[in-house]
Amino acid sequence: MSDKKVIAVTGATGAQGGGLARAILNDKSSEFAVRALTRKVDSDKAKALAKLGAEVVSADLDDYESVKKAFTGAYGVFGVTNFWEHFSPEKEMAQAANIAKAAKTANVKHVIWSSLDDTRKWIPLSDNRMPTLQEKYKVPHFDSKGESNKYFIDSGVPTTILNTVFYWENFIYFGQGPKRGQDGKLALSLPLSDKKMPSIASEDIGKCAYGIFKSGDKYKGKTIGIAGEHLSGKQFAEGFSKAFGEHVVYNSITADVYRSFGFPGADDMGNMYQFKADFEEDYCKSRSVELARTLNPSLLSFENWLKENKSKIPLE
Ligand SMILES: NC(=O)c1ccc[n+]([C@@H]2O[C@H](COP(=O)([O-])OP(=O)(O)OC[C@H]3O[C@@H](n4cnc5c(N)ncnc54)[C@H](OP(=O)(O)O)[C@@H]3O)[C@@H](O)[C@H]2O)c1
Repeated sequence: MSDKKVIAVTGATGAQGGGLARAILNDKSSEFAVRALTRKVDSDKAKALAKLGAEVVSADLDDYESVKKAFTGAYGVFGVTNFWEHFSPEKEMAQAANIAKAAKTANVKHVIWSSLDDTRKWIPLSDNRMPTLQEKYKVPHFDSKGESNKYFIDSGVPTTILNTVFYWENFIYFGQGPKRGQDGKLALSLPLSDKKMPSIASEDIGKCAYGIFKSGDKYKGKTIGIAGEHLSGKQFAEGFSKAFGEHVVYNSITADVYRSFGFPGADDMGNMYQFKADFEEDYCKSRSVELARTLNPSLLSFENWLKENKSKIPLE
């Protein structure tokens, strides 16, 4: 039997957990082994992880006993929850609480909790610059992760709170990329004014998490944030222009216009962009490119990510 230390990876079939699982599995001399948690052990993504050498186990974050069982015997846990599957902050917090409690009960030595800020520390509910959503939140998918930090801190399980950032893959899968207007020109419409937004290749989040586990005790009990780059809307548009060989205009829209787009979660996302723009300094300061590169020396720049991914970006 392998004497490698087991990292139980939630979201292993997704972007963040998948990045961590692949980072470990592709490093043949790694001191760690991967236990991939999924609700669908027979999915293509689960099978691909098994083929790379992961132990694939069935677990549902809504089912505490299944999570506890999946964490038993593990040295480390990577915890991530998927807000966008249900849009419920309460459900996301219950899942985070299950991860924290199960990790503590299973005597896990190091948890990385993939988190985001509780924006209500900057914008109380009484602040009307943006609407309050679902009665108790400003940016629900941020606030519930930030509020969930307490489950890890209170449980006493050694935890690194890892503040993540906007994935460049949102330009491919989440309809955030440049679009061709009726005038035939490409435009990138974001409510960022002239502010910079930290962002990253999603695979690099997992690679940074691997760097955190490899660092032993160094980041236990710490809150850290990572980014691939800090870029303004204009700089994103310049990056796209260079990659496509065609001018892409940056179209700075207001958060109100973004919130009115009407797709599910547009209000949450509009508030999110407004938070990032209004508190640019704090938000950028909390997400370090330098630290990300220390944890993951192969960190991609936006330019290099575009070289690999530009053909996947839908422009219509
Ligand atoms: N998009 C961005 O720019 C961005 C930036 C920062 C943070 N985030 C946050 O990232 C989170 C999503 O992470 P991701 O992008 O890595 O995921 P993803 O690629 O959307 O995949 C979702 C993952 O979550 C797992 N999952 C969902 N519900 C589960 C449950 N009840 N029990 C067990 N596993 C469950 C899925 O596993 P199975 O289906 O295999 O069970 C899958 O592995 C969101 O909460 C979002 O707010 C996103």
